[in-house]
Amino acid sequence: MSRAPEPAERLLFEEAATLAPRAYAPYSGFAVGAVVVGPSGRSHHGVNVENASYPAGLCAERAALAAMVAGGERSLRYVAVAAAGGQDCLPCGLCLQALAELGDAVIVARLGGEVRVVQLRDLLTAPFAGGARDAPAGGGARDAPAGGGAPGGPAGVGEVGR
Ligand code: THU
Repeated sequence: MSRAPEPAERLLFEEAATLAPRAYAPYSGFAVGAVVVGPSGRSHHGVNVENASYPAGLCAERAALAAMVAGGERSLRYVAVAAAGGQDCLPCGLCLQALAELGDAVIVARLGGEVRVVQLRDLLTAPFAGGARDAPAGGGARDAPAGGGAPGGPAGVGEVGR
């Protein structure tokens, strides 16, 4: 179910780890950084942002996903997630559902103390896809940026594993 990362995937994890200290996590003290990559190969960043009203808090993965969509990309290829303290950290169930909307991404995260690679669909085998009228089931309305999409990015981790 998991494998060792390729070098570019490990770099993506390290990029997420460098983001983690920017998290706003005064309530849990659990700082997380996330990087998502779409078809362009560009990185989009997120950190968790907590709130005095606890349920208003946002996970790093969904913050990064929003940054990717705002950047003009709607197809998810890679997600790297890292906790600041080096603890194991996989996306929560809510984030898995949110991420699955835009593709069956490769996830790079620390598992059992080691950086490992897993497929999103192996963690969430049956994402809900019942509501969208213009989106393919389980896949979302991908690669259809309105008003100009993302510029082509450099070949990088986005090319890994194709
Ligand atoms: N958190 C994330 O941002 N990503 C994860 O994958 C797991 C948990 C955040 C949510 C909350 O701010 C804190 O970590 C503790 O759960």
